[in-house]
Amino acid sequence: MGKKIAITGSGISTPEFTITNEELVEGFNRYVQHFNRENAAAIASGEVTELRESTAEFIEKASGIKQRFVCNKSGILDPEIMRPVIPQRPNEELCIQAELAVNACKMALEQAGRVGEDIDLVILASSNLQRPYPTVAMEVQDALGARGFAYDMNVACSSGTYAIQAAADAVRAGSATCALVVVPEIMSGHLNWTDRDTHFIFGDGCAAVVVEVLEEAKSDHPWEILSTKALARYSHNIRNNGGYLGRCDPEHRDEADKLFVQQGRKVFKDIVPLAANFIKDHMASQDLTPENVSRYWLHQANASMNRLIAKRVVGRDTTPDEAPTILDVYANTAGAGSMIAFHLHNEDLAPGSTGVLCSFGAGYSIGSVILRKV
Ligand SMILES: CC(C)(COP(=O)(O)OP(=O)(O)OC[C@H]1O[C@@H](n2cnc3c(N)ncnc32)[C@H](O)[C@@H]1OP(=O)(O)O)[C@@H](O)C(=O)NCCC(=O)NCCS
Repeated sequence: MGKKIAITGSGISTPEFTITNEELVEGFNRYVQHFNRENAAAIASGEVTELRESTAEFIEKASGIKQRFVCNKSGILDPEIMRPVIPQRPNEELCIQAELAVNACKMALEQAGRVGEDIDLVILASSNLQRPYPTVAMEVQDALGARGFAYDMNVACSSGTYAIQAAADAVRAGSATCALVVVPEIMSGHLNWTDRDTHFIFGDGCAAVVVEVLEEAKSDHPWEILSTKALARYSHNIRNNGGYLGRCDPEHRDEADKLFVQQGRKVFKDIVPLAANFIKDHMASQDLTPENVSRYWLHQANASMNRLIAKRVVGRDTTPDEAPTILDVYANTAGAGSMIAFHLHNEDLAPGSTGVLCSFGAGYSIGSVILRKV
């Protein structure tokens, strides 16, 4: 039999600022009023479309989100700016994404009873990377005093689960002995804060886990990784065309598709059956039925979507205890969301309990990790 692999520690970090729905809507509506005033003539002649105001009631009802953490608040709420203001740092200083990552990694290492030097693989997985190279993972590796190798990867909302699979495979194969997976998501940077349909969706946050051989674990309650599974099915329904070739076509460089865009309704309809069937198949492959699974740490994009997916998997309505929601506090933190839910909601489960950590989103991508508490 092969080596047993486990998650032996987890950690999270968030930036210092929060924005409630009410604050967000207030700032957004000031922008809308300003825009409509400035463009009154063009709106009257039909050349420009009048912008509509946002409401906090809609946001909470449609998504379950009540607030989000952000790296910078003043810029997002300023009608003249409408984006986070994040000053560039000198190369010698830790970049902001690495800083968010290091904070979560330190917490995960402590829980695992490990120090930076024990780590010989860092996978930094994120929907958005601060720069192409040198990899942000290497900067984190260096800051933690870790050894071995380090690389960045991006599978949007499934970055975390895909990276856990990659780390588990590496440790099982022997190319690493003790790996850190870290998912720092600064989603505020790629969000179009002037778009009423999406301005409320994302928040900034980070999650990290230590992945190593179960037998070597030093932590009190490791979670054995029983199985991992990933799926990719290409779709345009969630997309961001921003990238290094943008400057090569100045005519289109600043268009709305260079930030996050989605067909929310279509995504909802596509993802619910795709994710529910995927989780059911993954559980069945491990001879698990809903009766054997105590908790579902689902991707945190939309509270009703999660209720529906959990219902399809379990065959009845689930309780918040069975499928916890963190969206209300963190909003959608992309690849970090299901891992933040895991971090905040696993300690109460008894040894022997089984849980499913599952992410789904742009790609489409789905990743799931079946865990058993040791
Ligand atoms: C994004 C999402 C919350 C939007 O909710 P929705 O119920 O689909 O809302 P819609 O976009 O269809 O809009 C419904 C109505 O509310 C209006 N509306 C949209 N944004 C609004 C806002 N901020 N304030 C007030 N009204 C708003 C729309 O204009 C529309 O009005 P209309 O019917 O008069 O045209 C939802 O579709 C979703 O979460 N989908 C899944 C997305 C997902 O998982 N993505 C993965 C991302 S990583």
